[in-house]
Amino acid sequence: MEGLHKNKVIFVGGKGGVGKSTSSAALAVAFAKEGHRTLVVSTDPAHNLGDIFHKKVNHEKTELLENLWGIEIDPFHESKRYIEGVKDNLEGLVKSKMVEEVHRQIDMASASPGADEAALFDRLISIILEESEHFDKIVFDTAPTGHTIRLLTLPELMSVWIDGMLERRKKINDNYTQLLNDGDPVDDPIYDVLQQRKEKFAAVRKVILDPRLTGFVFVLIPERLPILETEQAIRKLKQHDLMVQTLIINKVLPDYADGEFLAKRRKQERTYLEEIREKFKEQQLIQIPLFEEDVSDMNKLKTFSSNLSEGVKAR
Ligand SMILES: Nc1ncnc2c1ncn2[C@@H]1O[C@H](COP(=O)(O)OP(=O)(O)OP(=O)(O)O)[C@@H](O)[C@H]1O
Ligand SMILES: [Mg+2]
Repeated sequence: MEGLHKNKVIFVGGKGGVGKSTSSAALAVAFAKEGHRTLVVSTDPAHNLGDIFHKKVNHEKTELLENLWGIEIDPFHESKRYIEGVKDNLEGLVKSKMVEEVHRQIDMASASPGADEAALFDRLISIILEESEHFDKIVFDTAPTGHTIRLLTLPELMSVWIDGMLERRKKINDNYTQLLNDGDPVDDPIYDVLQQRKEKFAAVRKVILDPRLTGFVFVLIPERLPILETEQAIRKLKQHDLMVQTLIINKVLPDYADGEFLAKRRKQERTYLEEIREKFKEQQLIQIPLFEEDVSDMNKLKTFSSNLSEGVKAR
């Protein structure tokens, strides 16, 4: 975790089922054990932080262990909260006669594809911007790869989109000013709301683009498809100037696993491990063994967690 030690915000990504949630939880436990105030956040709609810690985790901070808190972002709840916020924002901006119609339109928009994602994203931004001062470490357990990449590149896309909107409104406002012919710029609350959102996106982009503040960890298992997917994800994130510094190679067969069957698997696994070392020279690699059982309780999680810490120190 050497590289990760300097980071405040850590995103854990990877293909479905490779061990993202387990790794996020284990990483968070390791940080908390070292005395860092740590927050672990699940952004995957199919949550399992609660299952891992055997505690009900909801959309507000829940204490899990000493120095460790958890949040499961609930897309439905966030969507509702987000829509209420949008309505509040518009209150006073539109004529009272139109309020009902505008609310109807917003309700319809909130049922459209992408609305939950926008709400989830809004919460994610708020957590990064607002909780940073309360925590030393914020670990994000993300949904499988494609979703995460979209989420992480949204601030960039949204900034471009908002810039376009701002420009259009500015033109309209300038026209008004000319029309009124008094030279005073017109008050435009919508312009101000857009401007505020733009500033929020810019602030969050600054955090996730700063390698001293934010780290990206990918979890993979030594098999063909996870290797390919990791390669693509790293390339894609790089295009957006986001650098993946750490790879957790999970479920590596331990040496003591015996039998002919496992010997065969191990042989194949060696080839993949070599391929991983070959392909991912820019990343720090941490190897975690396959355990006899699922990582389903605190004791097993602690074992996983110390493996994670030691794997790093061994390098
Ligand atoms: N090293 C390991 N040894 C044994 N079992 C493991 C190991 N790592 C993870 N597991 C188990 O594998 C399963 C999948 O792990 P996990 O839920 O962390 O994956 P995920 O990447 O978060 O999955 P999803 O994409 O569904 O969110 C879990 O049952 C977990 O306990
Ligand atoms: Mg998961």
